[in-house]
Parts: sequence; structure tokens; C-alpha cells
Amino acid sequence: VPTVGIVGWRGMVGSVLMQRMAEEGDFARIRPVFFSTSAAGGPAPTFDGMAGDPGALQDAFDVDVLKALPIIVTAQGGDYTKDVYPRLRAAGWDGIWIDAASTLRMEDSSVIVLDPVNRPVIDAALAGGVKEFIGGNCTVSCMLMGLGGLFREGLVEWGTAMTYQAASGGGAQHMRELLTQYAALGGVVAEELADPSSAILEIDRKVTELQRGGLDASRFGVPLGGSLIPWIDADLGNGVSREEQKAYDETNKVLGLRGEERIPFDSLCVRVGAMRSHSQALTLKLTRDVPIDEITEIVANGTAWAQVVPNEKEASMRDLTPVAASGTLQIPVGRLRKMKMGPEYLSAFTVGDQLLWGAAEPLRRMLMIATG
Ligand code: HSE
Repeated sequence: VPTVGIVGWRGMVGSVLMQRMAEEGDFARIRPVFFSTSAAGGPAPTFDGMAGDPGALQDAFDVDVLKALPIIVTAQGGDYTKDVYPRLRAAGWDGIWIDAASTLRMEDSSVIVLDPVNRPVIDAALAGGVKEFIGGNCTVSCMLMGLGGLFREGLVEWGTAMTYQAASGGGAQHMRELLTQYAALGGVVAEELADPSSAILEIDRKVTELQRGGLDASRFGVPLGGSLIPWIDADLGNGVSREEQKAYDETNKVLGLRGEERIPFDSLCVRVGAMRSHSQALTLKLTRDVPIDEITEIVANGTAWAQVVPNEKEASMRDLTPVAASGTLQIPVGRLRKMKMGPEYLSAFTVGDQLLWGAAEPLRRMLMIATG
């Protein structure tokens, strides 16, 4: 049984990863060694399926302990990777590093893992001695899990995504902040809401006033509850956000496309008041006019988790929302139709749990691939 070092298992992505590994019985296939950045020496956790005593938590900054492991999985975050990974390699470690953070994602030495979409890229990398397997950006991974079939068939000439990204993308504290804002906004007009004859414009005035001052928005910087934020991640200084740049860079890297082969893919990324599922509205320019029923079939067969939702009001409202997708591995894809611009222009809408396919699941599956 291969020994696997696990770092960052307590955070939000790490917790979802542990939950999924327990559900799938993965702990019976490995011998986990748990690390901590703050509580080394304390008792390690136990999860369903684990055999034997997990022992004590190891120090996540102790390169000598880490370098004894053939495989390390981390969801500890980018700062940890930046600090520890180079020291580990400098110490001569040649094991496999599986990481949720973006730090190493665009390095030539790494592969972005999303095996239902790019298993051949992963297998070729393993055979070629690649040791860095990095989870992709959540928006990109969810989009490719839904629409991967169209890319695989070479049907996408270019694409653009307008995103509606959930609070969880910022982190656990961001989710709490969103809910605190919603509660405060509801609270400030509780009396008026209880009275059906109260004036809506007065309610709106009070809500807007609270949004413009008095709401705790320390995490997101500006209020998200009852509003939206049309910028995610760093400002690259050229009018593009880092999240938008990732859409292009990572989509192509996941697909193994380089140089001239790369597909122009551009996004406008927006934070909305959803909890943990990212949505995106896509416009795809197809390489040829493919009938919509054929497109539907290609999408449905793209990955085992893509779930086509009929382009009808009732089905879309029921099955194509963050509420429907959250906590599931299904990636609903709907609103599929040809656009007025011409028969090669496809409209689509897709939703995915940002913590599952967007973060934990590709890492879990990579770990199972790496451990054979
Ligand atoms: N950058 C993403 C977001 C999450 O902020 O929604 C991580 O992929």
C-alpha cells in the first residue's frame, strides 16, 4: 500500500477531499500520513476506511519528514507550495506532488489534472516522468467537465464565458460574510417585510443605505449580498483579471494544446451571491454547423458527469442552478441553442460545484491514478 502525505486536510477544499476519499473507500488503498502547519505532534484524524492508528500529525514544514514520502497531496494553499515545494526538490525529493493551488499550474514541468477530460495527457506525463500534478482553476474544470465533448470533437473554434461565481471561490470566510450580509439586509427591513402594505421603495432605500455603509465586507472588499462584483482575483493591469487569464491559459493546457493550436477562449468573470457552485453562460463558435441534437449527444457523452438539461423553462429553473448542483458531482449543461448570429454559434449554460469538480475531485482521482 503506497504511503501518501496529506497536507491541508482541515481547510475547506481539504475537508471536501477527505469526505470524498472516505465516501469512495480510498483510505483503504493508501497509508495516509497527515501533516499540520500548526498542530504537529497532536493526534492525526481518522476517516472511514482507514486501517490502523493514524499516529501523530507531522510537521508540514519539516522537509526531512516530507521527503521520505513517495506521494504528497496538498490543499494547504499557494503560500505553502511556494515555501515548501522548492525546498523539497532542493533536498533531492523525486516523489509525486499533487496540489490544489495555482502556484505550479502553468509551469512547463506540471500537468493540470482533470482525468475525465485529459486522461491521455496525464498518462503521457506519468510515462514521461512528470512529477507535478495540479488541480485546475475551478471555473475551467467545471466548464470542461460539462462541455468537454465539444472540445474533444474539435468543434470549438473559439469560446467566451460570462461567469457567475459563488462565494466559496474566495474561501470559507467569504461564504460566512455573504450570509452575514444577507442576514443584516433582511434584518434592517424585518418590520417592513412583516407588513404587506409597507412601501417597497422605502425597503429598497434602507437596504441600499446599509449596502453603501454599515455592512461587514472585509473579505470581499465591497458588499456581495444583493449585489455582484465584476472582478475576480488580481488586476493584471491590461484590463484582464487573473481569473479571466486562467480561462484561456488553463483551458488550453488541460486540453494539451500549445502554441498555434490553442483555442481563443476569453471570459468575463463575475462574483455573485451563490454559495458553492459556479455558473457560466457560454458562447461557442463552432468549427462547423452541427445539428443541435448531435450537439446535445456530444455534450451528454463528453464526460460521465455532464447532464444535459432540456432547453425549457421548467427544467432550466429546476435543474440548472447552483442550488441544484451544489453537493453533487453532476455538471448540468443547458440552454443549448443556436444563436441568431448564425448556425455555428452555440449558446450554453453550465453549473458545477466549485469544491467538488472545481477542486477536490480531480485531486482525489489523480491520487488514485498515481497509486495505481
Ligand atoms: N479563483 C476561483 C474563484 C476559485 O475565486 O472563484 C479557485 O479556483
